[in-house]
Order: sequence, then structure tokens, then C-alpha cells
Amino acid sequence: MDLYEALYTTRAMRRMKQDPIPDEVIRKIFDAAIRSPSGGNTQNWRFVAVTDPATLVHLGELYAQAWEILLSTVYSGRRGDEQTERMLKSSQWLADHFEEVPLVVLAYHRNDPSGASVFPAVWSLQLAARGLGIGSTLTTILGHFRHQEVADLLGAPLDKGWTNAAAVTFGYPLGRWAVPQRRPAHQVVFAESWGVQPSWTIDEPLWP
Ligand SMILES: Cc1cc2nc3c(=O)[nH]c(=O)nc-3n(C[C@H](O)[C@H](O)[C@H](O)COP(=O)(O)O)c2cc1C
Repeated sequence: MDLYEALYTTRAMRRMKQDPIPDEVIRKIFDAAIRSPSGGNTQNWRFVAVTDPATLVHLGELYAQAWEILLSTVYSGRRGDEQTERMLKSSQWLADHFEEVPLVVLAYHRNDPSGASVFPAVWSLQLAARGLGIGSTLTTILGHFRHQEVADLLGAPLDKGWTNAAAVTFGYPLGRWAVPQRRPAHQVVFAESWGVQPSWTIDEPLWP
């Protein structure tokens, strides 16, 4: 797949089939992802790839609890506009079907308060999956609201400094690949100094 196609179309794919992801594919996307950069090349990352149905049921329960907390706090005052409602509907679908997701990858980091060193690998994992026709969604609410419970379930040694950065769901898509809408680059990029508009504008996505 063309690199730019992957960059433009790897959006949050929450609705996915229950078809398992073969071990060979899981192996392949991890081998690509761990080529990512990390500060000082420390590679202070660990990934727990969960496919076991019983573990997924537990994770699904925890995810649903975390989702309810998010809905009643962060999103309680943010309802109404069409884009947010569409996102919440799709997020609700994931919360309702989390245990059916064929692969969930829990990404952990250590000695890296910002988590900056693990996210390139997480995104590479998602792009590598996209290249093989697999959709994914980066989620963080398990780490925010059920960190200890998830660690207990997976046996993750929090006392050794490991912190959960994300839980990424993977599966063959039910939805369609599309270029997501974003604020255009010329509205978020400054030229040379803060607040100075660049000389260019972009009316439509430049790909395809
Ligand atoms: C740091 C981060 C945390 C996120 N956490 C969640 C989450 O907990 N649950 C979820 O359903 N989506 C989560 N998302 C996905 C975003 O909601 C999604 O990327 C955004 O709405 C854009 O979606 P789109 O690419 O389909 O347009 C997260 C994304 C990022 C980058």
C-alpha cells in the first residue's frame, strides 16, 4: 500500500468483525512496529497482545465502566454537534462490543512520564495493520480509569514502573476506509513564528 494512502485513511475503525487475526499477521505488524524510534533507543515498551476470549470479556467489562465514567464527566457538557454525536455513537458501539474484538494490544511504557516513546510504536502498529486491511482504534480510557484492574488482569508489574499508555483494538473492518475530516493544515500550521499564517492554503485533502 502507498504510504500516503495509509496516512490518509487510518482512522478510528471501531466497528469490526469478530474474525480472528492470524498469528502470522500479529507477528508481522509487531515486527514492523518495534522499528519505531524511542528516546535514546531505550525501547522501554512492552505490549500485551490479548486474543483470549475470557480475558477479553474482563477487559470489556472494565472498558464499559471506563466509558461510562468518560460519558458522565468529559462528555457530559459536550453533546449536540453532529461530529461529536457520530463519534460517540461509534464509541458506544465499541464499548458495547469490546469483548468481541479479536485483538486488543495493551501498550506499556516505563521511565517516560510523557509516554512519548511508546506512541510512535503504537501508531506504527496501527499503520502496519492498515497495510494489511486491518482496522484499529487507539483508546486510553482503560489506563485512565481502570489502570490497576487491567494490570491485575494481565499481571502487569506496575511496581516496576510500567504504565499503560493505550489499549488498541484491532480487527477486520465493518466500516469503510475514508479520509477523516480535520481542520485544514493552514489553520493549524504557523510560518516561522506563532500566529503567522503560511503562504499556502489547502481547500481539499491533497490525497488521492
Ligand atoms: C490519545 C487518544 C486517545 C483516544 N481514546 C479513545 C478512547 O478511549 N475510546 C475511543 O473510542 N476512541 C479513542 N480515541 C480515538 C479518537 O476518538 C479518534 O482518533 C478521533 O475521534 C478521530 O477519529 P477519526 O480518525 O475516525 O476521525 C483516542 C485517540 C487518541 C489519539
